[in-house]
Parts: sequence; C-alpha cells; structure tokens
Amino acid sequence: MDNNFVSINEIEKQSKFTSQIRALIQGKGYRAFVITLGCQQNEADSEKIASMLKKMGYEITLDEREAHILIVNTCAIREHAEKRALSIIGRFKHYKAKNPDIIIGVCGCMSAQEHRINQLKHSYHYVDFTLGTGALHRLPELIFNSMNGAKRHFDIDEIKPKIAEGIEPLRQSDYKAWVSIMYGCDNFCTYCIVPYVRGRERSRKMEDILSEIKDLAGRGYKDITLLGQNVNSYGKDLKGTPTIADLLDEIAKIDGDFMIHLMTSHPKDASKQMIRALKENPHCANHFHLPLQSGSDEVLNRMNRRYTTERYLEIINGLRENSDDITLTTDIIVGFPGESEKDFEKTLDIIKKVRYDSIFTFIFSPRKGTPAYQMEDQIPEEIKHQRYERLCEVQNEISKEINEGYIGRTIRVLVDGKSKNNENVYTSRTEGNKIVHFECDKDYTGKFINVKITRTDTFALYGEII
Ligand code: 5AD
Ligand code: SF4
Repeated sequence: MDNNFVSINEIEKQSKFTSQIRALIQGKGYRAFVITLGCQQNEADSEKIASMLKKMGYEITLDEREAHILIVNTCAIREHAEKRALSIIGRFKHYKAKNPDIIIGVCGCMSAQEHRINQLKHSYHYVDFTLGTGALHRLPELIFNSMNGAKRHFDIDEIKPKIAEGIEPLRQSDYKAWVSIMYGCDNFCTYCIVPYVRGRERSRKMEDILSEIKDLAGRGYKDITLLGQNVNSYGKDLKGTPTIADLLDEIAKIDGDFMIHLMTSHPKDASKQMIRALKENPHCANHFHLPLQSGSDEVLNRMNRRYTTERYLEIINGLRENSDDITLTTDIIVGFPGESEKDFEKTLDIIKKVRYDSIFTFIFSPRKGTPAYQMEDQIPEEIKHQRYERLCEVQNEISKEINEGYIGRTIRVLVDGKSKNNENVYTSRTEGNKIVHFECDKDYTGKFINVKITRTDTFALYGEII
C-alpha cells in the first residue's frame, strides 16, 4: 500500500534541487507564470506547483510576458480543452524565441497521454519538459536539469502516479480551499480519459487529510472542498479500509465555522452510510453533486456506469430525506454514441423528475484511447448541438422556477467579492453554490452573512443584506 506514496529519499532529493535552483537564481528577480485549464483537481495541483516554484526562489506573476518560466497545467477531458492548451503553448513560442533561457513545461492530463507527449516532443521544439499528473513532486529536478542544458524531458512512464505529501499549496484564496482526499479513478466509464491520465485510485491517509482540514479551519477558512474523481470510494486502498463516511464523521468533530463540499461522486458508490454521515455532519453543505450522465439505462450500460436510473433515483430520495431543500446538481453528456431520440427523451424526463437546481451539460467529445472513441453510431454534431440546446432550455425553466421559490427567504451566503459589472454590488454563494448578488457599502469578502432574497432569475438570486 505504501508503494502509492513518494519515498522520503525522493522528497529529500527534490528539496536539494530546490535549494540549488534558489542559489542559482538568487537576486535575479526571476518570475514564474502558471496557467491552469480544467477542473478543481488541476486548480489544486497548480497551487502546489506555484508553491514549489516560490520555494525555488521564483516570484509568481500573472503576466506571462515577464516570466522566466512558463508552466501550462493542461486538461484533456474534451477536445476543446486540448485545443486551448495547444494554442496557449503555441503562443509561448515567441517568448522562447526572444529569450532562449526561458523554461517551458507542460503538465496535467493532456501531457499524460503518449500521443500528446510525442506531439509536444516532435512538433513543439521549444517545450523543455512534460510532467505526468502524479509526478509533480519532480518539478525541481526537471527545472534544474533544463537550466543546466540537459536533454529535453518526455517520459511516458511518469503516467504511473504517486502521492507526495508535504507540498504545502500556495492557496489562491484565504477563505476557500481544495483538499484532495484521493487521486485517480478505477471506473473506466467508456467516454472518459481520466483513468488513463490520472492512473488508479490512491487515497491519502486519513490523518494527513484531517490535519490539513484542522489547520485550514484554525486559519479561518470557510469553504473546504474534498476533492477526488470519485470521493465515495475513498479509503478502499488504505490500511483498515476507512470509508468516506468515516472521514466525514472525523471531520464533524473539528471545531470552526466552515462548510464542506464533496467533488465529485459516483452514484454506484454512494452508500447509505455516506448519506447518514452527510446528514449528521454540521459542516456538510446542504448540497450534493451527483453526476447522472444519461437518463437511459441502455446508454448508462454502454457508458459502463454500473447503476440504473432506478438506483440513481433511490440515492436522490435518500439525499432529499436528509433535507428537503438540499441543492442538487448533476453532469449530463448529450450525444453519446448510439443515443437515440428516445434515450435523449429519457434524460429530459429524469431532469424534469429530479428538478435539479442546475446541471452541467456536456456535448460528447470522443477521446482517443477510450472505448467510446471507436464505438459505432457516433451522433452527428448538429444533433448533439440540438440536444444540448433542448436540454438547456428544459433545465433553465426549472432553475428559474426553483430560484423564484427563494423570494422572501433569508439565507446564509459566503461573500466572494465585488461584482465585476457594478461597483456597489457584491457577489456571494449559498451553500449550494447558487450565486447571490446584493448591494452593500461594506466589504464582507470571505465572511458568512445573511441576505434576504428579493428578486431572482434563471442563473442568480438578488437580495438585501440583513
Ligand atoms: N465528452 C463529454 N463530456 C465528458 N465528461 C467526461 N468525459 C467526457 C467526454 N469524453 C464529462 C462528464 C463528467 C464531467 C466532469 O465531464 O459528465 O462528469
Ligand atoms: Fe471519468 Fe467515470 Fe472516473 Fe468520473 S468516474 S473520472 S467520469 S471514469
């Protein structure tokens, strides 16, 4: 089991590289730029990358033009994300042409695929290295080698990832935090690239997670998201096989005014114990994100999701028994290979039945290396787009109606800061991540306040501070 963890020797080796880089760049005012694409897992990884760079002596900059090192943390979940990453990497060519000492590294899910590693190696000559998602701790070594004229580094074996404890992230927020509880995924949904680019499930030890949360709570963090591709299967690979319910029960004992979100869950692993633990834990937000993907059992079967819509609805009922005004959200893929009009209508039916507060709708994007890439009966783009629009239309109406039900209610929100469009208006979020705008002449960013809702629309609530 401990093979999942990076050894102390390796950590010490990397910390020597960090010191050597620090000595090399001391007093030179070197800056580092990190750009992040994709999900919260990548955001969390980027906070670790930024922290490692800072330890090496770089100052973190938001202006890529003044950077001495450029890191692109990529996503591969859909084609669009990969295109964006390649276009950003393409743009960085000019910086290297102007200053050959600049270091360019590509990490994240796109650079954990063999064909992309080869593409970056052969067609992007100015990229110095790629770094697998589970090998982030090796960043100091790769930078040190690049500085010292070593060969460019492209290693396909890095796809066998490990967990490195002790890399304190450079958190972007002082009231919201990501805490990874597990990495990787064993599910192999047939459309999904994640198991190939993030490797098998590995859980962090419960004591490491709890001490991180205690520390955050002690420092006044208000919103802590437990991250993992499938947080419900937490602990299966650990000694004593603790479960997500055990972890939540321990988190319940931590003092402090903070809320816990889970991101993200798989319905096949959503146990009764977890639903019980959510209910009993005063920190758990009254919100659950449960990806459905499709409302057709045949499509779910071909997606290898391993649950039926009947089972899915039982879990939703269990969550609603916990709290009848729980905020529910989901992910849906439209246009999976072979999805018939009837299948799609079943998705519309279940959306109407559950009445989610909001949904994330994705157009199926064939990912090379996944089974669905090669499936027959790929759906024409035009139909995929039509289904996307139809689904959004149905959901928007539901979201609008649910939001209207908030008028007159007073709810607790966490303030996010000033609205971009209006000077005196602040933006905040409910426990269920609903956006709430309100006017105020005092800045409560990072604090919980109560707002009375006076008006709503499809995407937001508006109110007055109480
Ligand atoms: N095409 C479209 N959407 C996808 N997702 C995962 N893989 C694909 C794909 N190939 C969606 C799923 C998942 C969310 C994070 O991204 O809905 O829950
Ligand atoms: Fe992808 Fe399925 Fe794993 Fe989620 S559970 S990361 S959709 S393979």
